[in-house]
Amino acid sequence: MKGKRVYLRSIERGDVELAWQYMNNEDTFYNLSVGIPYPMNRDNETDWYESQRKRSDAYNFAICNVEDDLYIGGCGINSIDWNNRSCNIGIFIGDDKFKGKGFGTEAMALLLSFIFNQISVDRVELRVFSFNERAVKSYIKNEFVQEGRLRKAIYRNGQFYDEIIMSILRDEYLKR
Ligand SMILES: CC(C)(COP(=O)(O)OP(=O)(O)OC[C@H]1O[C@@H](n2cnc3c(N)ncnc32)[C@H](O)[C@@H]1OP(=O)(O)O)[C@@H](O)C(=O)NCCC(=O)NCCS
Repeated sequence: MKGKRVYLRSIERGDVELAWQYMNNEDTFYNLSVGIPYPMNRDNETDWYESQRKRSDAYNFAICNVEDDLYIGGCGINSIDWNNRSCNIGIFIGDDKFKGKGFGTEAMALLLSFIFNQISVDRVELRVFSFNERAVKSYIKNEFVQEGRLRKAIYRNGQFYDEIIMSILRDEYLKR
């Protein structure tokens, strides 16, 4: 899947080293879901790669820069509920110099295109911390709507924050 500035490809063993560095990037960790080990060691990252490699239902993509093929982040489907044709997704740009420059927004557009054109789900959901304005704006640019707010669900730097639930439905995607 190729866009103007990024493309998505499968995650390879050779990505583990950079992925490990990205997961230890403070800004990335701060904005990513609770439960990811921090600090992440190389073995944690290798274990994650191995666990995903063995799954037949995993949809994990490396986000790469078209200009030089550098692996700059990842995105994918975390889980699919086939009974209700709904999935939960996630995305990160790992290198600070590629954040806030539209690379993640373009990667999300590619991921949505893959999901709605290749998988028969009707609903794509994600969660984002309320302080992560860049991510919220990026998702709105891809026409996600806010549909719920888990009050004070996240604790960061000594404070509680809301977690926002956003989604886009197949009909909305096709009408764009
Ligand atoms: C969230 C993420 C995928 C967004 O992708 P991106 O390509 O960096 O986003 P964009 O550059 O398109 O920016 C989106 C909007 O946020 C604005 N923005 C950029 N940096 C910002 C900042 N530090 N604070 C607030 N807004 C910011 C941009 O101006 C843009 O708005 P505009 O179109 O009105 O100008 C990416 O930044 C990222 O992966 N960040 C780290 C990990 C993360 O937060 N993952 C998501 C967890 S839910």
